[in-house]
Amino acid sequence: MCGIVGYVGNRPAQDIILGGLRKLEYRGYDSAGMSLLEDGEIQTVRAVGNLDHLEAELESRAGGTATATLVRPATIGIGHTRWATHGRVSVQNAHPLAADESRIHVVVNGIVSNYMELRTQLLQSGCVFATETDAEVIAHLIATNYSDDLADAVIQTLDRLDGYFAFVAMALEEPHVLVGARRECPLVVGRGEEESFLASALPAFLAHTNRIQYIENGEIVVLRAGSVEIRDAAGAPREREIETIEWDEETAEKGGYETFMLKEIHEQTDALAETIADRTASGHSVDLSDSEVFDEDILRGVERVTFIGCGTAYHAGLLGRAAIEAWARLHVEVDVASEYRYRSPILGPGDLVVGISQSGETADTLAAMRLARERGARVIALTNTMGSQATRDSDAVLLTRAGLEVGVAATKTFTAQVAAVFMLALRLAELRETLPAERIAELVAQLRHMPELVEELLERVGPAVEEAAEWCWQAPFFLYIGRQEGVAVALEGALKLKEIAYVSTDAYASGEMKHGPIALLDEQTPVVAVATASPVLSRVVDNIETVQARGAKVIAITTEGDATVAPHVATAIPVPATDPMFQPLLATIPLQLLAYSVARRRGLNVDQPRNLAKTVTVE
Ligand code: F6R
Repeated sequence: MCGIVGYVGNRPAQDIILGGLRKLEYRGYDSAGMSLLEDGEIQTVRAVGNLDHLEAELESRAGGTATATLVRPATIGIGHTRWATHGRVSVQNAHPLAADESRIHVVVNGIVSNYMELRTQLLQSGCVFATETDAEVIAHLIATNYSDDLADAVIQTLDRLDGYFAFVAMALEEPHVLVGARRECPLVVGRGEEESFLASALPAFLAHTNRIQYIENGEIVVLRAGSVEIRDAAGAPREREIETIEWDEETAEKGGYETFMLKEIHEQTDALAETIADRTASGHSVDLSDSEVFDEDILRGVERVTFIGCGTAYHAGLLGRAAIEAWARLHVEVDVASEYRYRSPILGPGDLVVGISQSGETADTLAAMRLARERGARVIALTNTMGSQATRDSDAVLLTRAGLEVGVAATKTFTAQVAAVFMLALRLAELRETLPAERIAELVAQLRHMPELVEELLERVGPAVEEAAEWCWQAPFFLYIGRQEGVAVALEGALKLKEIAYVSTDAYASGEMKHGPIALLDEQTPVVAVATASPVLSRVVDNIETVQARGAKVIAITTEGDATVAPHVATAIPVPATDPMFQPLLATIPLQLLAYSVARRRGLNVDQPRNLAKTVTVE
């Protein structure tokens, strides 16, 4: 996701900010920029692409010499690496964003979920917008609220904002002050000698200081070279201890987690919040208008939806099928892209084909999308990567906002894809009037609540997962079972175990067990059953009993409050209760962690499993 670096001190801010941004490159970005304040002027440089482009731009502004710089004497500034979510990848949309004739500058991470409403109000009051970003409203609000105190203007601005974000602001009239604020997205302060740093992650300044202060949710922070004040949302001061961190840079990049995969599993809360928040900001319906095309007439005219994808993305398509069939009452097909591209599908203008691909570069998915387009279907790219090939080979883009995923095994991008297909299903149901408005509102409310439930689950699921891993990690084969939506979860859980733990797995619709796979069962076979709340739960329990009767031990993902499954299984791992359709989003998480724990116990490198590539650009 995006990166923020702010500096105020006694050394050239440009070098420190550029160095800090380089340390945040691992987070992924598509453009970058910085603003420096010196001699009553703020200068901004922005560039698309990597930081070498930004550096080249800085040099060219300084007359093309490698050593000269834009405003090298500036000792205060803010910088940003952007991972596009709202608005194209372009210099214009890169941060810092400015308002009030460049008197106020901000860098922003995350999403302002009520930006549409704010933008309309600000436009009416005469503000001129220079970008397509949601974040620009923050710059204009600060400018509107500003009289002579940046911190006050930020406090007033925060009051108007909904969403998940962190930002840092700088004002021309206050050349020695930076003000930061956070809601959900992280922000951390570094304390040096007569210099202060503010960043979205520690690696940005660990080379300069390891004395840090964490900014907590809802707080603002006022930075000067020699002082740091932390305040609550009303402006009252808050005490914060200075901690000394002993992390090396690698540990810091992983946010203190032992691997990127574990970090990314824990980032699912933010990935979901960012994917869902502004599109459901009304609280009762889904708005996909940020995603090009989704014209109401086109969506209303859809006669059939087809999901295509590979691996994990295909599993998200299976859940899309379940949701669209149930809620929007449309015909839905799902296929793996490597098969679909060689089929001869019958397609026409009533067909909506959704190519799901976190990278947006998977060769088979791109070929399948092209085929669908050639045959007259409308094609949506559901991807995590704005500007990827899939976004260019499609009629519309539905973006997940999970940020960069470094671990080869897809985790946070999968749950974000699932949230996106659910939103598409709800939007179709709304337009087709296949569900009452109250039911849609109820489902939207639950979807909005998912990030919190995921956080709650992540906080407490560890011991149950470890209990299961403790007894099963050496088994040579695992069978995963489930029914209906649980089949997609079983397939995804089995894929995770295969790819990172190199354990042979099979995943089946559990009603099929008696038609073959039951022969595989013995006392040595762990069976992982997705047994969360659903209309077919009693059938799954029957299947679990059948497994038990063959001596195999069962790990079941259950729903909190259910008493029907636990008596039949060796380890039950409950997830919070929701509408049955949303259970897969939660049920997947313990299975990611189970695969992770088995792989670690086997001493494997989970971030880079053998033979696998993160982006599969060949057939
Ligand atoms: C599994 C995994 C792969 C990808 C697949 C598609 O953990 O990562 O199965 O899901 O290669 O990749 P994208 O989504 O980039 O098209």
